[in-house]
Amino acid sequence: MRILVTGASGLLGKSLCPLLDKEGWQYWACNSKIFDITNTKMVNEIMNKISLDFIIHLAGFTNIDQAEDNPEIAYNVNQLGTRNIAHIAKKHNIPILYVSTDNVFDGNSKTPYKTTDVTNPINVYGKSKLAGEKEIIKAVKKYYILRTSWLYGKGGYVDAMLTFSNFRKEISIVNDQIGTPTCADDVSEKIVELIKTKAPYGIYHVTSSGSASWADFTKKIFELKKKNVEVCSIDKSDFPRPARRPRYCVLDSSDALPDWESSLEKYLALKK
Ligand SMILES: NC(=O)c1ccc[n+]([C@@H]2O[C@H](COP(=O)([O-])OP(=O)(O)OC[C@H]3O[C@@H](n4cnc5c(N)ncnc54)[C@H](OP(=O)(O)O)[C@@H]3O)[C@@H](O)[C@H]2O)c1
Repeated sequence: MRILVTGASGLLGKSLCPLLDKEGWQYWACNSKIFDITNTKMVNEIMNKISLDFIIHLAGFTNIDQAEDNPEIAYNVNQLGTRNIAHIAKKHNIPILYVSTDNVFDGNSKTPYKTTDVTNPINVYGKSKLAGEKEIIKAVKKYYILRTSWLYGKGGYVDAMLTFSNFRKEISIVNDQIGTPTCADDVSEKIVELIKTKAPYGIYHVTSSGSASWADFTKKIFELKKKNVEVCSIDKSDFPRPARRPRYCVLDSSDALPDWESSLEKYLALKK
């Protein structure tokens, strides 16, 4: 199995690549320096030279607030870049797996979003990722679009909170934005399973089960690690940011991953 992995240096890529090693699959791990997906000429040149069996497309412009301030860059990476990668899949007639986001929904639902629910992103990041989904669907039939949310892993939110706990005793976190914290390792395992089992193509929602606010999530991190940090709950409106966030972004996960609290406990058990 020869796989192109875009975004391999990111949070999810760092968790996924060791699993690909374990499977004994050959893969080409790329970041923006090795292979800029927005450089259509370069993508076309590479496309004609390599031989591939599968593409895992993780690369994305993921900073939600920066996307709001720089929509052209967000669309360039998330839409044009995805179109370029989808064309490689088309040219080689190979499957592509694209990781997308809960931000394709507006957050007005009161129940978990199903894969068939209408999308309606309210920020540039969500709009550009949805545009990426559409590029994939337009270009190829053999696709997996895997929407996930609130990923943590090496160097991500949970690790940052643990570092923070060494310096501060109090933190203010929003309590009116609800989603599902999800461990990048669980999503990586799911990606490998989809490929290995040749699961049916289509859209998948892959998150832990359950839901939480950012304040609940943060409290749980400190509780599990017995850190004496007080989490003060605040409203989103008390902490204005450039991009709007969907209020409720729980995905109806196609195949239940473990509940978010047990996954977090497992992740934290490996941390000092
Ligand atoms: N993190 C989350 O909570 C979350 C939730 C839902 C969905 N997702 C989606 O999951 C995917 C992976 O997320 P992540 O958190 O791992 O992202 P990340 O940590 O921000 O990493 C982004 C990756 O994309 C690469 N990249 C950015 N611009 C590129 C370009 N022009 N050409 C080639 N590569 C480029 C980066 O390479 P450099 O290192 O060279 O910059 C990096 O490897 C993204 O598509 C994201 O939209 C993430």
